[in-house]
Amino acid sequence: MSADAPIGVFDSGIGGLTVVRAIHALLPRESTLYLGDTARVPYGSKSPETVRRYAREILAWLEERHVKAIVVACNTATAHALEELTAAARVPVIGVIEPGARAALAATRGGVIGVIGTAGTIRSGAYGRALRRIRPDVRVVEQPCPLFVPLVEEGWFDHPATRLVAEEYLAPLRAAGVDTIVLGCTHYPMLSALIGEVLGPTVARIDSAQETARELASVLAERGLEAPAGQAVHHRWAATDDVARFASVGERFVGETLPAIELAVLGSDQAG
Ligand code: DGL
Repeated sequence: MSADAPIGVFDSGIGGLTVVRAIHALLPRESTLYLGDTARVPYGSKSPETVRRYAREILAWLEERHVKAIVVACNTATAHALEELTAAARVPVIGVIEPGARAALAATRGGVIGVIGTAGTIRSGAYGRALRRIRPDVRVVEQPCPLFVPLVEEGWFDHPATRLVAEEYLAPLRAAGVDTIVLGCTHYPMLSALIGEVLGPTVARIDSAQETARELASVLAERGLEAPAGQAVHHRWAATDDVARFASVGERFVGETLPAIELAVLGSDQAG
């Protein structure tokens, strides 16, 4: 494992690009290799076993490319597979849930925290466990928001339909009096402003992408894996299907043009 290697980042599709954007902003000297499993997105509605199998295949793909650390830039994959990946990987593996939980606990004033995510993430209870492990008396109100992902992929960040859906999903959180909300899905930072309008300005919004980038920075520093000064920065992008759509939707997430996207073939597909 060498400090001049790239950081591997993966997600079920394009959503993890919000995490890459945060990594690029915080760690401008680091190169990244991003893999979006667009052939098999969404993970949010799939069983834990299936998501774990996908994650193992992606781990093998990234390790073959000699990344120095791996960021699981997907809440659902973190919820189901982080433990297994951490045990199996030769490099440090960072998920998005612990960093988000820690930031939420630092932000809450009254100890009532809302968590929104995919059906799989919420069903796993991973955020609630992470929050209570650090602060047992915290009250956690969890709400799956499955319609948010397709709305974001349509680019409907501030559309009346999205607002209507948000009002419906967020009503129980408002009724419970949450003072902090964790945007526990890669796509939700794109809806942060709208969620803020629905919940009001006093509710702190936690974007796990930024917190994860901070966690990555401290892991790289601790292990002496920071990119050497003066090294050329090179970002690579790969997807398992439809690289053209990845490029066009992805650009909205990263805020820059995505050059040359590689078509990746993963484990079980390779055999076929
Ligand atoms: N990346 C997923 C997550 O953060 C959202 C999209 C999906 O369901 O695969 O949970």
